[in-house]
Amino acid sequence: MSARILPPSEESLAEAAAALRAGKLVGMPTETVYGLAADAGNPAAVRRIFAAKGRPSDHPLIVHLPAAEHLPQWAREIPEEAWTLGRRFWPGPLTLVLARRPEVPSEVTGGQETVALRVPAHPVALALLRAFGSGLAAPSANRFGRVSPTTAADVLEELGEAVALVLDGGPCPVGVESTILDLSRLETAGPVILRPGAIGAEALAEALERPVAAADGAAPRVSGSLPGHYAPATPVRLAAAGEIEPVVAQRLAQGKRIALWSRHPAAAVQLVWQELPAELEVLARRLYAQLRAFDRLGVDEIVIERPQGEGPLAQAIADRLERAARGSGGR
Ligand code: TXA
Ligand code: MG
Repeated sequence: MSARILPPSEESLAEAAAALRAGKLVGMPTETVYGLAADAGNPAAVRRIFAAKGRPSDHPLIVHLPAAEHLPQWAREIPEEAWTLGRRFWPGPLTLVLARRPEVPSEVTGGQETVALRVPAHPVALALLRAFGSGLAAPSANRFGRVSPTTAADVLEELGEAVALVLDGGPCPVGVESTILDLSRLETAGPVILRPGAIGAEALAEALERPVAAADGAAPRVSGSLPGHYAPATPVRLAAAGEIEPVVAQRLAQGKRIALWSRHPAAAVQLVWQELPAELEVLARRLYAQLRAFDRLGVDEIVIERPQGEGPLAQAIADRLERAARGSGGR
């Protein structure tokens, strides 16, 4: 039986909360990407997430909370830095890694001593969290290693058999996953970004009044940091603006059918071409949907122009595109 997509009415929110209390999985819109939600306090429900995604069980999940006031139920030590960032950026696309309370199921934390927590900004996610009343473990609602879903229909396509229902919150307004900031090693390493997202090191450092480091080698395992995550099945080739023409010409000479995502069309005509948005907010919002659309075309290769620009979104987009290029093809 495949799941239904429901509009976020009072009725369907109550139905979703009841399904979650019964240990079932629900597709939940957030401002970043759609999540595959389960009761974070129910180990059997959390194990269903791993089974549905085909995700290795030692990869920890993010627990979504209705409000920052819920932090003490999940985190053992809450540094002032966590409250400061919560006040400033929650609800929003920021995940904080903190020392976990012993009661947090090890299924959620992948056996680690830390737990990842965030209060999402999407009104439907917040309404569901309030109706449910506690933490929801929710990874992106895609099969392991694949492109994250940014619409309710994407969730059905990825995991329709596994979820009780999908709440429709429309297309995700941010489009790339939350920034993950490790606050569990403040004394030794300081605050460390484990995954780039819409909230950048500069904004975090300004709020904390101390430096914030980018990912380091000692960081705990983050599945989103494995090369080859966020990848379509079709091979992806990234190219600088100046390389587009020669790369396209070479592919066509090899008889390859390619799709091109670039600021300007290439001179060669026999292509699928989509215009790469110049505005980073638009590009982030469009990113995963476009990768999915290209994947459906059945072309031999997707050639993508490296986006221009600076700042946290540019970094987050570059990070996801690099991984798509490294991990795509044959999966
Ligand atoms: O925007 C997002 O964060 C989305 C939406 C649904 O909230 N969620 C998401 O979940 O991207 P997922 O599971 O696809 O990625 C969560 C990342 C993984 O890379 C995981 O390894 C990392 O968070 N993570 C979770 N708990 C952690 C922990 N205790 N320490 C370090 N990394 C952790
Ligand atoms: Mg993911």
